[in-house]
Amino acid sequence: MEKINFEELKQEYKNLLQSAEEASHRAYSPYSHIEVGAAILTDSNKIIKGANVENASFRLTTCAEQSALAQANILGENNFKAIAVIGSLEEVVTPCGACRQMLFEFSQRSGIDFDVIMSDKNKTKIIIVKVSELLPLAFSFKNFKS
Ligand code: THU
Repeated sequence: MEKINFEELKQEYKNLLQSAEEASHRAYSPYSHIEVGAAILTDSNKIIKGANVENASFRLTTCAEQSALAQANILGENNFKAIAVIGSLEEVVTPCGACRQMLFEFSQRSGIDFDVIMSDKNKTKIIIVKVSELLPLAFSFKNFKS
């Protein structure tokens, strides 16, 4: 998969990734010590941030993407152009399976197959894909039959 660097991003994605990096400094991660930030760009050009929030009961950890999505929902902003994710790691942070399912729900809800921008901590290895590429054969509410 092709990796690009920060300078190759369009300006609005540069701003978005920088917002995600800022958000990562709000991570509460005393157990993994991994700081992850996410930033959503809405169709009205608002930026909504999230960071991971860990818990002594480890399985209760909330990922950065999930905290940003919940925040977007409460703000009534559900149409996205993109989400950027960055972690305090040498390698690119890619959304976990649960986050992929959450991202997919929002893309189905809005009908927008938005961009997912994923970065390493140095912003030198950046991958951009569509939500649909992250979760082939996804389970969707569109499959529900009454
Ligand atoms: N984490 C995220 O916040 N997003 C991801 O996409 C991958 C993992 C967090 C969860 C946990 O706090 C830490 O990174 C280590 O798994």
